Parts: sequence; C-alpha cells; structure tokens
Amino acid sequence: MNNINLLKENLKFSYSPYSHFKVSAVLVTKSGKVYTGVNIENASYGGTICAERVAIFKAVSEGEKEFEKIYLYVEDKQGKHPIVPPCGICRQVMSEFSMDMEVIMLGDNDKIEKSTVKELLPHSFDNKYLD
Ligand code: THU
Repeated sequence: MNNINLLKENLKFSYSPYSHFKVSAVLVTKSGKVYTGVNIENASYGGTICAERVAIFKAVSEGEKEFEKIYLYVEDKQGKHPIVPPCGICRQVMSEFSMDMEVIMLGDNDKIEKSTVKELLPHSFDNKYLD
C-alpha cells in the first residue's frame, strides 16, 4: 500500500469521541521505516495526544530518530477547511529530531500542500540554549 492510501486507511483508528476531529499521520524515517499515528483523546482533555506525536513517539521508542517526511490527513467531507497544518507542540517535537523533515498535508479532493519543519517553525527553541 502506498503512503497516501495508508494515511487514509489509518484514519479509522483515530480515537476522537470528544472533538470528532479525526487526524491520521504517516511518518517515514530516513532508514525507510514507516510508522502510523492517530490522535488519541481523553476524557481529561489535556491527556489528548496528536497523530503526529503518536507516530514520532512510536518511531523514537524503537530507536528511530531521523525522519524524512511525515504525511498528515484530516478528513474534510464538508469542505469546511483547506489543509490542516500541525499544531505548535507537534512542530516543536518534530524540530527535536529533523528540521529538514518534509511535512506533507493532505486534504480531501486530493488537495496537497508541502512544507518543512524549518519553514513551519522558524526561530525554534532547541538544545543549543541548554548548554
Ligand atoms: N490534532 C492532531 O492530531 N494534530 C494536530 O496537529 C492538530 C490537532 C488533534 C488533537 C485533537 O484530538 C483534535 O485534533 C482536535 O484538536
């Protein structure tokens, strides 16, 4: 299955009973491995985690830290919004590992927009400030 089909297939695993906003992510590592993620919500809303971070944390927990690209998909059957970009916390988590990672945002009707972590999070906080 190609990455875009996987991205759409994976949406069904989104656990989003509170927002009903389903998000799917597919992360491709530089070593060629593929990790999926969905948003997972919680009755204590702050316990919610975004699809991007689930995919990234799955990968990091298996020793992968260099990422080539991440695909994002939000279903938009009503055509209410164009492409949905990653939230600020996810951008920060992405920046920890791969500033050069490509972020590919997919909407319905084959709308697609591409960016990079560098573009999405300029002037980021990183470990050089911790010295
Ligand atoms: N969400 C993501 O999964 N990724 C984002 O980048 C933005 C927000 C999820 C979190 C929550 O479950 C729902 O979308 C509404 O905020």
